[in-house]
Amino acid sequence: MSPPTRLLYTALGACTARIELNAFLPRNKGMRLQHRKASTSTFGLTDASLIRHQALINGQWVDAEDGKKFSVTNPATSEELGQVADLGIAQTKQAIEAASAAFKTWSKTTSKERHDILMKFYYLMKAHHDDLSRLITLENGKPLKEAKGENDYSSSFLEWFAGEAVRTYGDVIPSPFPTTRNVVIKQPIGVGSIMTPWNFPSAMITRKLGAALAAGCTAVIKPPAETPYTCLALIELANRAGVPPGVINVVTTNANIAEVGREMCENPIVKKVSFTGSTPVAKLLYKYAAGTLKKISIEAGGNAPFIVFDDADVDAAVEGAIACKFRHTGQTCVCANRIYVQSSVYADFASKLAEKVAAFRVGDGFDEETTHGPLIHLRAVEKVKKHVDDAVSRGAQLVHGGKRLEGAGSFFAPTILADVPQDALVCTEETFGPLAALVKFETEEEVIKLANDTPVGLAGYFYSRDIGRVWRVAEALEVGMVGTNTGAISQAVIPFGGVKESGLGREGSKYGVEEYLNIKYIAFGGL
Ligand code: SIN
Repeated sequence: MSPPTRLLYTALGACTARIELNAFLPRNKGMRLQHRKASTSTFGLTDASLIRHQALINGQWVDAEDGKKFSVTNPATSEELGQVADLGIAQTKQAIEAASAAFKTWSKTTSKERHDILMKFYYLMKAHHDDLSRLITLENGKPLKEAKGENDYSSSFLEWFAGEAVRTYGDVIPSPFPTTRNVVIKQPIGVGSIMTPWNFPSAMITRKLGAALAAGCTAVIKPPAETPYTCLALIELANRAGVPPGVINVVTTNANIAEVGREMCENPIVKKVSFTGSTPVAKLLYKYAAGTLKKISIEAGGNAPFIVFDDADVDAAVEGAIACKFRHTGQTCVCANRIYVQSSVYADFASKLAEKVAAFRVGDGFDEETTHGPLIHLRAVEKVKKHVDDAVSRGAQLVHGGKRLEGAGSFFAPTILADVPQDALVCTEETFGPLAALVKFETEEEVIKLANDTPVGLAGYFYSRDIGRVWRVAEALEVGMVGTNTGAISQAVIPFGGVKESGLGREGSKYGVEEYLNIKYIAFGGL
């Protein structure tokens, strides 16, 4: 490693920082914003009938009873895409009742029938891949290539759960009594309330809904107000796949979001709640669901540590950090939030990371050169700025970026901070934005303590080529998911979920379907 040289780096001519790095950083690259005119009422889709502006209750597309609508905007342009029905509590109750009525017959379908419908739904998603990906980019902002990746990830949950539908096996348990035989069967739990976030407008629907349908449950979905169109298009495809009326209901809402969410947790007809979102909201919903002791699964916030040990392949670690930290412009629950780098490889890692980040192209997701899109809204931009300012005020050094990119849309420059202290906000709470915070450490023991010093525990990552250390650290990290020598852990086949205040239960994998099943023990006596 060459000795560190001192250089002055200016990001966008606005933020300057003096920092010790041993790399040359290209200047002012990666910040080109290219906006496109918002699309017409067909959104540029091949199949415009996928565009739904209404909610779905008992197989009928419906407006809000009072005619209210809310506006959905493109975060890359700030332009309105369309208006969607804004439902309240009365129609939420209707949706729940419709799901309850449909449960009587859906729960009696064979697992093979449910498998076949899920596979049809999967193939329809594949057939409409381009349209569905386009919708994601329009309302969420992620680059089209990334939206296509989400679409593949999303449909893989349907394929996976189609397979799980026919594998919800029970048990035969040997009895201590000669005249008794014990059998365990699994039964669908009932109506599920499904509440999803805007960062994966498609995949978070199928990860929950696929499991619910496979188990024989019916569902009421509340998609996020920022990204309802993808959900509505998916459910249009579910209808085409042959999902009977009432089995899936969609309550679109914005003005009444708190009341609707509460109803979806408190209504005694609902037997299962599944939520992905922030930890504070998760705690509230957990309280509401507790009144009727509902089964609940929660995938809440993370604050993922990403650790680079001195025995790591530094180039691979940089690639992993780019994928993990800047995926969807930092807006995933499993994004690295705190990047701990051992002192002897710190300068090397920091300079290589800075070089890669400087090459990003930030812009409209439909622009082929765009590598990173906007944040979902200006509140998200403000949060990242707050984390940057806080860290700098505590002595961190701004290496790159650090500010909002002016103009239409909600863009923030990809940012690197060095020498961040552990008490900075960026180390204590999830940023959910394109901010890589580098923290220097000396020993394995020290970094494990730092990594676990948080009330949440969703994902954690580290790079090391020492097999003993790999086992030790993987076991020591207080998280639900660990990536060793990789920054990409998400797949349909793995149990996704966290520990501590990051949540309850697991999604995806063979465990995901269990969340929608009750276990029933039957004793056969008198033999
Ligand atoms: C999330 O951010 O909630 C999900 C991320 C993933 O599934 O990879």
